[in-house]
Amino acid sequence: MLSSKEIRKRFIQFFEDKGHKFVPSSPVVPADDPSLLFTNAGMNQFKDIFLGVKKKDCDSAVNSQKCIRVSGKHNDLEEVGVDTYHHTFFEMLGNWSFDSYFKEESIRWAWQLLTEVYGIDETKLYATVFSGDESDGSEYDKEAAELWPKVTGIPVERVLSFGRKDNFWEMGETGPCGPSSEIHIDLGDEMCDMKHIPGHKCGVNAGCARFIELWNLVFIQFNRQSDGTLKLLKAKYIDTGLGLERLTAVLQGKPSNYDTDLFTPLIKEISEMANIKYTRSLTEKTDIAMRVVADHVRALSFAITDGAVPSNDGRGYVLRRILRRASRFGRVLELKEPFIYKLVPTLIELMGDAFPEIKQRQEFVETVIESEEKSFNRTLDRGLEIFETAAGKSEKYISGEDTFKLYDTYGFPLDLTELLAREKGLDIDRDGFEKLMEQQRQRARAAKKESGLIGKLEGEELPETDDREKYLTENCKAKILGFAGADGFRGEGELRNTEEKTAVLLDKTCCYAESGGQIGDSGEIRGDNFVFEIEKTEKIGHSVLHQGKILEGKAKVGDVVEVTVSGERNSSRKNHTATHLLQWALKKVMGESITQQGSLVCPDYLRFDFTCSKALSNEQISEVEELVNRKIFADSPVTCSTMPIDEAKKLGATALFGEKYGDTVRLISIGRDEDESYENAFSKELCGGTHVSRTSQIGGFKIIKEESISAGVRRITALTGRALIEYFSEREKVIEELCFKLKVPFHQLSERTDKLISENKKLKKEIKDAGKQGGGGNVREEADKAIENAKDIAGAKIIAAHVKCGDNKQLRECADSIKKRCESLAALLVTSAGGKVMMVAAVSEDLIKKGIKAGDIVKQAAPAVGGGGGGRPDMAQAGGKDASGIPNALKAAEEYAASKLE
Ligand code: ALA
Repeated sequence: MLSSKEIRKRFIQFFEDKGHKFVPSSPVVPADDPSLLFTNAGMNQFKDIFLGVKKKDCDSAVNSQKCIRVSGKHNDLEEVGVDTYHHTFFEMLGNWSFDSYFKEESIRWAWQLLTEVYGIDETKLYATVFSGDESDGSEYDKEAAELWPKVTGIPVERVLSFGRKDNFWEMGETGPCGPSSEIHIDLGDEMCDMKHIPGHKCGVNAGCARFIELWNLVFIQFNRQSDGTLKLLKAKYIDTGLGLERLTAVLQGKPSNYDTDLFTPLIKEISEMANIKYTRSLTEKTDIAMRVVADHVRALSFAITDGAVPSNDGRGYVLRRILRRASRFGRVLELKEPFIYKLVPTLIELMGDAFPEIKQRQEFVETVIESEEKSFNRTLDRGLEIFETAAGKSEKYISGEDTFKLYDTYGFPLDLTELLAREKGLDIDRDGFEKLMEQQRQRARAAKKESGLIGKLEGEELPETDDREKYLTENCKAKILGFAGADGFRGEGELRNTEEKTAVLLDKTCCYAESGGQIGDSGEIRGDNFVFEIEKTEKIGHSVLHQGKILEGKAKVGDVVEVTVSGERNSSRKNHTATHLLQWALKKVMGESITQQGSLVCPDYLRFDFTCSKALSNEQISEVEELVNRKIFADSPVTCSTMPIDEAKKLGATALFGEKYGDTVRLISIGRDEDESYENAFSKELCGGTHVSRTSQIGGFKIIKEESISAGVRRITALTGRALIEYFSEREKVIEELCFKLKVPFHQLSERTDKLISENKKLKKEIKDAGKQGGGGNVREEADKAIENAKDIAGAKIIAAHVKCGDNKQLRECADSIKKRCESLAALLVTSAGGKVMMVAAVSEDLIKKGIKAGDIVKQAAPAVGGGGGGRPDMAQAGGKDASGIPNALKAAEEYAASKLE
């Protein structure tokens, strides 16, 4: 039996032998395609070659691509687990021709590989071609229909034609596309899983598991435009996809992908964890659950490896949904503690050789999954109870309120509630849910409006501001176009000093409005008759809002003014370039896999969030600082160029996912002189912010904090320039104070502190030991012993005892304990600890009346230990130094008391 590893290898080998270049799988998280949440086909990484935007570097390619299909045009989520051949994550084996060969070769080779190399019985194979589509005039693929019998010898009856749905492949709503030919296999009547459906007839594309699509050969010729039309591409391409999981099932003679060696180790482990047997049933709930979990852990692990983390929106929310779905199926298996992350090592065993990146990021993947499982576990069980109650309310559906409550309070993604409902034959009230969601969005919008001018002005028509000068100058002339406040915008009149938040709108400005993590400028607008202080600058669409207040005079629409950016911009600039250096250094120290999650650049500090499984060690932090500072002292040039986005991508520029970049982008490079190539540029980032022109202007860099902000995401806060000086001088002051207090020069501070610490430690130990020697821990026992040894004189107890107590406090406790238990008492307790002698005397009321005073007892006793003391008649204390005098002290006390009683 061929192993999946061997099947993958033979595919690649076959096409390499035919001159194809092996190209590694691209990440499942596409770095630079905002139109895609996840890589959904092998061709994604070649899209730009098909579109003619990128030059090819080979004529044909082969690979096994990691794909995730859970959103958008290709979404298989609902099928997973309930059938045997759909997955959220799968591998797509593929071969590509970039205008070198076309239909004939691709058909021939596909057939040859399946029948000769893999030895599939050709009488079971079917081919399909595109039948054309009258609605848009696209033609029947006669060429392919004729090629199949000619090239492969397949009988014409087994070449079938289908419409757009089955035989016209498109990557997404837009992008490369074309008619396709598919190869299907007939797995035999017993595989049909739709026999119970009246009227079902097995056949290609008939929906049952008997006929399975194996390989899709797409003849890419068009680019689908956003208006829906097809534009002919300049060249013709081949793009094929063969699902490794399905092929493996066929070649290993398994009825289900989950029975192949790609899944069995995972299923086995889940079954062992749950202590439930896997019975391969299509309907058994626990079997479905095991398949779902085995599938989902693959999608999660690969997506997290490639830089996505669960979150509340976009790609991160898709991951969260998958994970929560898997957690819930864990409950079907009675798995309550986090368990999904425990499957990662098995997965790595299975796939780590083909995709080494997953091995490298094992710890990170496990941490992220475990923490996400933990957090959902907090609400999952309660949520399931709520669901049960909700399901009992109606025979038809789960109400919008309940669905919303599950979503909002218990973190149940809509599709999870839908799934639970479906299992009970119920629907969910989507409209009701949407209505409540909309209300929540409105509340959020209203809250935003409350909080700032930007919120209040959203939706208003505002004049545009030309802000191109923000990169060039910090001082410019402009004209006032109007004012905006809580009441909206007005393009006429005056502005006087008011308490209200106000913004001035100008025809142009040199102020930088908050964006890309860099906060907006502060500064000043000065006219002939007024001074306006800009507190912050923000942007709505193309309008820049200079927010602040009039300090003096009054401004009016039409005034010609001078705009000046405050010196703080200078600090932001330093921090922004330092953020780029930091990202570069982090990649050097922690590995290329760290991905930016966010950043904040303000005049006082900079902050950078990135994916990383554990805290940086002190050494790693120092190394990062050292790398950044070295680049600062190297005085490297910082240059800015604008170029088409594709050119920037070609240069390997770092972009931030989720950020919408236009066709023309701004590239900040560090290390390259203005007219040089980009070879020396060690940092290249797409960025709209303001930067220094040479790194030395940053003036130094220091990380002041490194922390975790969520599972797998770390945050670094750092300082540069003036803030750095302030940081150091504050610390220096403290050092000076310490030098003064400890009376040592700076270079001895550490040594002196060490000495103090060790002295302190020693003393503490001595006290503790003395306490131990004195049995310091057990006051009660000491008291008992003293009472036992007491002398009874005239009905009173006379105690003179050497007890073991650690300190004065214990000694007093011991005396109290004795006093409580002896009605008539005169006692002296003595102890020694830490080189000191301590004594306490206690006398009961009746004996005081007989003339015995505690103060007098210690007066009699203390001189024997070289000390003195005194106190009240009922309780007195004294101390001394000479422990050797203790017996005499005790004797003196006893004699004194006895003498008073006799
Ligand atoms: N791009 C084609 C597919 O995904 C091969 O099916």
